[in-house]
Amino acid sequence: MSRSTFILGISAYYHDSAACILRDGEIVAAAQEERFTRRKGDATFPANAVEFCLERAGAEAGDLAFVAFYDKPLLKFERILETYLGVAPRGLKQFLLAGPLWIKEKLFMDRSLREELGYDGDILYSEHHESHAASAFYPSPFEEAAILTMDGVGEWATASIGVGEGNEIELTRELHWPDSLGLLYSAFTFYTGFKVNSGEYKVMGLAPYGEPRYVKKILDNLIELRDDGSFRLNQEYFNYTTGLTMTSRAFDRLFGRRPRLSETSITQQDMDLARSVQEVCEEVMLRMARTARQDTGMKNLCLAGGVALNCVGNGRILREGPFDNIWIQPAAGDAGGALGAAQLAWHRRCRQPRQVTAGRDAMQGAYLGPDYSAADIRSFLDASDAVYEELERDELLNRTAGLLATENVVGWFDGRMEFGPRALGARSILGDARSSRMQSQMNLKIKFRESFRPFAPSVLAERASDFFDLDCDSPYMLLVAPLKEERRIPIPESQNHLWGMDQLKLTRSDVPAITHVDYSARVQTVGPDSNRNYYDLLRAFERRTGCPLLVNTSFNVRGEPIVCSPKDAYTCFMRTAMDFLVLWPFLLDKKAQPEWKEEEDWRSMLELD
Ligand SMILES: [Fe+2]
Repeated sequence: MSRSTFILGISAYYHDSAACILRDGEIVAAAQEERFTRRKGDATFPANAVEFCLERAGAEAGDLAFVAFYDKPLLKFERILETYLGVAPRGLKQFLLAGPLWIKEKLFMDRSLREELGYDGDILYSEHHESHAASAFYPSPFEEAAILTMDGVGEWATASIGVGEGNEIELTRELHWPDSLGLLYSAFTFYTGFKVNSGEYKVMGLAPYGEPRYVKKILDNLIELRDDGSFRLNQEYFNYTTGLTMTSRAFDRLFGRRPRLSETSITQQDMDLARSVQEVCEEVMLRMARTARQDTGMKNLCLAGGVALNCVGNGRILREGPFDNIWIQPAAGDAGGALGAAQLAWHRRCRQPRQVTAGRDAMQGAYLGPDYSAADIRSFLDASDAVYEELERDELLNRTAGLLATENVVGWFDGRMEFGPRALGARSILGDARSSRMQSQMNLKIKFRESFRPFAPSVLAERASDFFDLDCDSPYMLLVAPLKEERRIPIPESQNHLWGMDQLKLTRSDVPAITHVDYSARVQTVGPDSNRNYYDLLRAFERRTGCPLLVNTSFNVRGEPIVCSPKDAYTCFMRTAMDFLVLWPFLLDKKAQPEWKEEEDWRSMLELD
């Protein structure tokens, strides 16, 4: 019997470290380190994720044909060094802060990989945007496609356009540091008072409350945008190459104030800035997509890189762009680079062909993380004195659907954890989208987060078009689509004066909990194939209520990574106002649980922003 070829992919040391393992090219497991260490966006060597991947694949470090790393640390160091030298002595402060870390961890990547892993085989390094591009194309359902990657920065590249055919990918255009769409967005994230590298979602969620009144100012001053989507950023307004902040004093002067401090309240200007940078970002994304089409002539587009998590922009590329089909890597950020690097090793280094199943990607629904047996869950629950019922499958589905239909909020933990930032029905908190109080209840009492943030729906794939203007699947919740006109409730004239957050008081549709103020929704379509239990839960809810969708938010509180283990889930359940918890096949009622005792000051562990 021939032995399997195992390839381990790793991304680490920047943000959101992750590991992934392939067995003969098939993705066996992938996970982010933060889920195990419980430190959000953990950037350290992903020792726990690697251990999980090896165990899941039944392999040891000595069995690995290759370890593949998602970027080239020496090239990255060269960029950093050149940047600092170019602006010396202005960048000295940042260099002194970043320097020792780079020298210790990044320059000696090779050694630390070997020491941490106990591995002495080949380590392959691919370029950052090649890793993103590989993660976008190789698992996609397309034989051939254009590829577009956009992020903050890798080594030098900040965006790339390329083409994938068979088992080959080739990048044909790159945009280089310091001209970066991701960093432009992050600059506004910083300026509007959110945390860079994680608050970008909030800016996107805030945008519909604002007016695009600064678009012209941005285009006239900050960014020189060309027809092909490439651009130059006017570095006078930014500080990320030289300082410890993203924006400069000139930026403050341009918009007439200092950056918002996170503890101060969000103003209309913040909303207008969010809306404006979002519109500029969408315009750049659309232009780059058109260029990708012109360059390649392809009908399909694959997307990855952190900017590809901008699901509003993705939705516009789908609706207004030149492609027939688009596919977005669910772990579009740097975690997904681990997957891309491993696949490059398999297809490029090992010259292995790529098998495409028509209409189906190779991500297994992104359910690539750990799962837990009923026996494991039971022993945890017994050890915790938790009170639970074990139910047959149908009864569990029907009872849960009934609880949801009566406005209970239910934690839903079932099967393998998702890879990437979105919860897709394995580690989710669920609620009834028809309820007018669900959005504020879930935001304030369960997620402990800002009330403006919208919730997303999971909808039965076959009923999605009854609710949304969306004519394709969106299994990874990476597309925003408009709610159908007939679902909308017009705003009475007497309420037209409501502005900013006050708009939250209005009921906008028959599914208000998932309807954003601009009548959009970030949709997850759920088909029968990838997560049968979740699909059947939606069916059970539909049978009972006629409504085929639920609010689906990630199973965590603000500032905490998504839960991984039954212990994480139970802890989160007990700390919040969640009413019921499904730890498949068990059902737990909050009211029946013993009193919860905190072991530590858990809030101090959160990465609040
Ligand atoms: Fe990246």
